[in-house]
Amino acid sequence: MRRVPLFDLSPIHKGLHDQFLDACDAVIHSGNFILGNAVEEFERSMAQCLGCKFTLGVSSGSDALLLALMALDIRAGDEILCPSFTFFATASCVVRLGATPVWVDVRAEDFGIDVEDAERKVSPKTKAIIPVHLFGQCCDCQAVQSFAQRHALWIVEDVAQAQGAQYNRRQAGSWGTMSAFSFFPTKNLGGFGDGGLVATNDVNLAEKARCLRVHGAARKYEHIYLGGNFRMDSLQAALLNVKLPYVDNYTQQRRHNAQFYQQQLGSLEPFITLPKELPHRYHTWNQYTICVHNNQRNALQLFLKERGIESAVYYPKTLDLQACMKNVSTDKGITTHVAHTLADEVLSLPIFPGLTLEQLKYTCVTIHKFFVKQ
Ligand SMILES: Cc1ncc(COP(=O)(O)O)c(C=O)c1O
Repeated sequence: MRRVPLFDLSPIHKGLHDQFLDACDAVIHSGNFILGNAVEEFERSMAQCLGCKFTLGVSSGSDALLLALMALDIRAGDEILCPSFTFFATASCVVRLGATPVWVDVRAEDFGIDVEDAERKVSPKTKAIIPVHLFGQCCDCQAVQSFAQRHALWIVEDVAQAQGAQYNRRQAGSWGTMSAFSFFPTKNLGGFGDGGLVATNDVNLAEKARCLRVHGAARKYEHIYLGGNFRMDSLQAALLNVKLPYVDNYTQQRRHNAQFYQQQLGSLEPFITLPKELPHRYHTWNQYTICVHNNQRNALQLFLKERGIESAVYYPKTLDLQACMKNVSTDKGITTHVAHTLADEVLSLPIFPGLTLEQLKYTCVTIHKFFVKQ
């Protein structure tokens, strides 16, 4: 049986093996394993890619979000507008600081936060909005920005899945007050373990976040804030420095794979909805997520699995329905309907760089077979 994994790093890592070993060797010889030169080099390169003044390498994307909210002094009594259809970390950082996530619906066309629903849920207690650029495409950044300006809110962009994405030629992560990136291995720039980055153009927030990253210390053993250990490892940064110059090429391969799916699966549109790159956006296709209608999602996933094709459901349960969120969040009595439908219908197909034409064709043919047999 042919096999199509959901994700495989070996095609892109194969040619870089010697560079990875050299980068690790340099760190081992330096004797400097936390922050240091490799992290500073990574921060400079990322600042340049993003067109952002300040960047801080941190321990994970989840910590990047937490650190951003801590720098903004988010605390108990504050409300933060969050999409309910996203990864858990987007909103858990809010609860960890004692603040309240307010669930906002998303738009089916780009999986991004629905500003019209946010308008219904904003209140005098609202301090910030966390738009997520889900699956690799920017949300409607302009709508979010004017909404935030109208209500004097901070924007904390969750860019974990969308490094390199653009809206009106401007990079994801350069729109917000602060933004958070993840280098979890499956991201477009995937690391070798956990890693993240905070970006901002605000010098004061950058300096505060820098302190918070090292237990709130402005100088060694002088703790001016209650921070944490949010530091990035030097080995992680050194390996990311090797991969960073190739990330655009990896994204190109993802875009190419997405185009193939668009061409091959377009005729199935009554049964499924394909994800689209919307005008004025540059999609990085961290995931290729279709919606399968008529309650057929799980059956299709099983059909693919039985024929050696892996797929995944991101995300089967919205955050407003998570047990731990029950008493600490609110939808203000207006349910996030689109998010709930998406949770029932989404299915992510393999799209990683290095996926072969044969694997792509086999996946498409198998999906067609499923619907023909209906
Ligand atoms: C949308 C979103 N936000 C936040 C995170 C958290 O990033 P990390 O896994 O690096 O902590 C992820 C990562 O999976 C994510 O997909």
